[in-house]
Amino acid sequence: MTSKKRVLVVGGTGYLGQHVLHGFSEIEGITATTPFGLAFTHHPSPPPQALLDAFPQLLHFHVTGHGFQAISRTLAGSGFIPILHLCKILYIFFFPDVVVNCAALSIPRACEMDPAAAMSVNVPSSLVNWLSSFEESSSLLIHLSTDQVYEGVKSFYKEDDETAPVNVYGKSKVAAEQFITENFSNLAILSSSIIFGPLTISPVPKDSPSRIDGVPSKGNTSEFFHDEFRCPIYVKDVVAVILALSKRWISDSKQTKVLLNVGGPDRVSRLQMAEIVADVRGYSPTLIKSVSASSVDRGVMSPA
Ligand SMILES: NC(=O)c1ccc[n+]([C@@H]2O[C@H](COP(=O)([O-])OP(=O)(O)OC[C@H]3O[C@@H](n4cnc5c(N)ncnc54)[C@H](OP(=O)(O)O)[C@@H]3O)[C@@H](O)[C@H]2O)c1
Repeated sequence: MTSKKRVLVVGGTGYLGQHVLHGFSEIEGITATTPFGLAFTHHPSPPPQALLDAFPQLLHFHVTGHGFQAISRTLAGSGFIPILHLCKILYIFFFPDVVVNCAALSIPRACEMDPAAAMSVNVPSSLVNWLSSFEESSSLLIHLSTDQVYEGVKSFYKEDDETAPVNVYGKSKVAAEQFITENFSNLAILSSSIIFGPLTISPVPKDSPSRIDGVPSKGNTSEFFHDEFRCPIYVKDVVAVILALSKRWISDSKQTKVLLNVGGPDRVSRLQMAEIVADVRGYSPTLIKSVSASSVDRGVMSPA
């Protein structure tokens, strides 16, 4: 009999984390013959009720950054332990086959204000140490990084370009990439550009997907930078990359060590992003004001 495969989403309450949970839960099994179990960690306690209502079958663990061992302790014993939950037999995790790490202090200004917290949350040393503690380590770690690891002095950065972050957020992400690469052997690091898409089941404080939409939708004028560029990527495309990497690991068990820059097909300024949203939504283009990034003090440097 094929054993059940287990996926753990760390930071499952965030914007991407919720979409990843949705992506995995939409497929019956990772392959037709291989059923899988899904769990997530959450930082707020208890986790948002809307998320629990949407995914009642999922296991969840409260983890603050140092508590991964608690997952193993909770699941004392070896292999799978059958439990009765909502009238269904579920199999809970002993160790995960795939871990998707979406947990981060992801707001650059917040990182700039508290560099120690940024390093502590964004460099997943507890997670990596926990995964490494299994004698026969067989997890694939998919870790989310950012395009802000680059200085931003040219366009279309490639994976082998030098990293030179201009802010604490980027520095913490570079430190994370180095730590993971040096201490774990089976991994994929996805350096993502801005992620956009539908709102989450449980609202997230950052709410970046609708930020561009927010101000013009209320009829107010808003400023957007004409000289800061990103390659925005649709959230379901990021999820598709994560699912593809997971399926490949589960089907062929070939270890990997890969860094992928994950961006959408178009390089656009923040002003162009706003103009596209206004066009689609039917807002007046006069609500969008073009300004230079250098004219605003955001309390944090940002790669152009
Ligand atoms: N969204 C983007 O446009 C974008 C672009 C490039 C890269 N990324 C990267 O992609 C990943 C996911 O981004 P996201 O937009 O989904 O971020 P997000 O919405 O801010 O979610 C971050 C997650 O991390 C959790 N977290 C925060 N502090 C924690 C702590 N001290 N201990 C444990 N968990 C903690 C959050 O829980 P709480 O909600 O309780 O704080 C939340 O579940 C991050 O690594 C981010 O840097 C995102």
